[in-house]
Amino acid sequence: MKTLAVAALLGAAAIYAPNAYAADIDWAAVPGKDVTLFYPGQTSWEYILTPTKHEGAPRFKGGKNCVECHTGEEDLLGKKLVTGKINEPTPIPDKPGFLPANIKFAHDATTLYVHLEFADGGQPDAKMDPKYETKVTMMLNQGTLPEAVRAGCWGGCHEDLATMPAADGAERTMYTAGTRAKMSAQGGGDALKPEADLTKLRAEGKTFEYWQARLNAGAPAVAVDGTIFDKRVENPTPAVTAEATLAGGKWSVTLSRKLKAGAPYKDLEAGHTYTVGFAIHAGHTARRFHYVSMARTFVVDQQNLVADKVPADFTAAGK
Ligand code: HEC
Repeated sequence: MKTLAVAALLGAAAIYAPNAYAADIDWAAVPGKDVTLFYPGQTSWEYILTPTKHEGAPRFKGGKNCVECHTGEEDLLGKKLVTGKINEPTPIPDKPGFLPANIKFAHDATTLYVHLEFADGGQPDAKMDPKYETKVTMMLNQGTLPEAVRAGCWGGCHEDLATMPAADGAERTMYTAGTRAKMSAQGGGDALKPEADLTKLRAEGKTFEYWQARLNAGAPAVAVDGTIFDKRVENPTPAVTAEATLAGGKWSVTLSRKLKAGAPYKDLEAGHTYTVGFAIHAGHTARRFHYVSMARTFVVDQQNLVADKVPADFTAAGK
């Protein structure tokens, strides 16, 4: 019954996305976790590492991860940052400071599904992205990029990205520090390491993969995916599928892709722990004007984990 209702709501989406299997999952029966996404303003990786700016810097460098200090207070951070009191020179009036989401993972024989439910809480129209009202993104790594494991999305967020304090008009997209010849408190600029070094880093999996659903009420979701390494590069044809419905002010969004989709996608293997960060651009925003989560982890089939491993935040259980 539920399957039929979802399929009917998706209507046009199903026609345009023949690989959409997600309607087969009864999400009501899958346990979810609440994750509070918050407004980060211009709080970059370099800012986080600077003790005179970020109180947590010395202990973060000493090995304590963001989640260990900040879980449960994301709403307070977001409320502070969204007003422009700190790290935001151009605040958006009346924008909520945080956005709670409920997130679920599942898989079947071939595919991983990630499901997010959230209400955008009444967003002012920022008029930055006229094409899409809302964008839901996740960034993942297989444990091979240390700053992704420790800090999630902050592993790609630098002081000199577009609209960040040291951008100086440049249109830089997210990148990893390892690709840069030199890093400073102002970020890494445009000078890259030699090609041979970059090839090695890529082979070691020191990249982020991202999945995105671009949303407008009443229209089929548009799926986008890509890689973040020396810059953010969108794949010409996504392996990721996106489906979404909006009912009573609440979005239900499902992102999915084959567990093994071939290069440049990461193999998603049972029993392996992946780091993931979530972002939601609400109210026609773009670039840094999003809500973000602290890092989380997921595993495909927890029962395959070796005994001494820390359990992941999310388990994608098989059907
Ligand atoms: C040892 C604890 C600790 C760790 C680890 C830590 N922080 Fe913080 N962070 C703080 C404290 C303390 C503050 C200032 C008080 C507040 O606003 O909560 C702060 C402030 C912030 C702020 C608000 C801006 C500001 O300066 O007030 C953001 C955003 C933030 N941290 C993000 C992060 C991220 C992202 C990480 C990981 C990459 C991280 N923090 C790691 C303790 C920590």
